[in-house]
Amino acid sequence: MHFVITGAAGMLGQDLVAAAKAAGHEAAALPRADLDISDRAAVHDALDSSRADVVFNCAAWTNVDGAETSPDEALAINGAGAGNVARAAAAAGAWTIHVSSDYVFDGTKREPYVESDMVGPVSSYGRSKLEGEHEVAAAAPERYTIVRSSWLFGAGGPCFPATILRLAAERDELNVVDDQVGCPTFTGHLSSALLDLAARRPLGIVHVAGGGLCSWYEFARAIVAGSGLRCEVKPCTTAEMPRPATRPAYSVLRSERGDEVPALPDWHDGLAEYTAVTRAVSTR
Ligand SMILES: NC(=O)c1ccc[n+]([C@@H]2O[C@H](COP(=O)([O-])OP(=O)(O)OC[C@H]3O[C@@H](n4cnc5c(N)ncnc54)[C@H](OP(=O)(O)O)[C@@H]3O)[C@@H](O)[C@H]2O)c1
Repeated sequence: MHFVITGAAGMLGQDLVAAAKAAGHEAAALPRADLDISDRAAVHDALDSSRADVVFNCAAWTNVDGAETSPDEALAINGAGAGNVARAAAAAGAWTIHVSSDYVFDGTKREPYVESDMVGPVSSYGRSKLEGEHEVAAAAPERYTIVRSSWLFGAGGPCFPATILRLAAERDELNVVDDQVGCPTFTGHLSSALLDLAARRPLGIVHVAGGGLCSWYEFARAIVAGSGLRCEVKPCTTAEMPRPATRPAYSVLRSERGDEVPALPDWHDGLAEYTAVTRAVSTR
């Protein structure tokens, strides 16, 4: 197939481009420097001539705390920008696969969120991602898949495991929040699932996140345990570590759409692959 990938220099974008090429697809990688998705005319021009079968939108404002002070900027990219991509893709006859987030939920549920659950973002970032979902559905009502995922980590960008490994090398002790629970998702696994979805093209929203669940504290413990570093990881509460943006306390994602949606390996497997990939890079 012929793909266009926006946000191609981002953490997910990089892995998706590599996975698409490795699987024998043609992948036109468009980093922000080559295509700003908030520029409607530029997006139209880029996709009009692309001959794409599927356009993956991996471009986003992902600074969750920064979105609290820059809500309009976040909305212009995550909301209107996503709409620009879907509209131009539909006009070019292509299917849109747009990446969204667990942060569209308020996190008050205590069992996995499925696609039909009520949304209710509790942060500016979450509201901007929800607006993007609405924009995409309105712009290409017959030709889109919205993929909600969560807690992404990968070799191509700053992420939680990278931060924990850096801090664990510097300190004897780390406090990590234990009252936010979710599904860590390895971008290598998500990329494979996105390619699978490009073939299946389920219409509407799908949930695709790493198998299993954990708190950030449990995730950090697993990261440090696998690293050989001698740092004690201690649990703390969100209230003890205030951040500008509210995070959902519980954002475990599962799909209710059965065989239409690929299931990802457990997050422990994702962490093992992340560790192998990043070690291979650092020893080169
Ligand atoms: N990271 C997570 O934990 C997480 C969880 C759930 C869902 N998601 C979603 O997954 C997707 C990929 O996220 P990621 O983790 O790969 O984030 P990322 O590493 O920040 O990648 C996003 C990319 O989008 C680019 N970008 C920003 N504004 C743009 C614009 N106006 N036009 C074109 N490109 C633009 C960024 O470029 P610059 O860096 O140059 O600004 C960056 O390369 C996003 O939709 C995100 O909302 C992420």
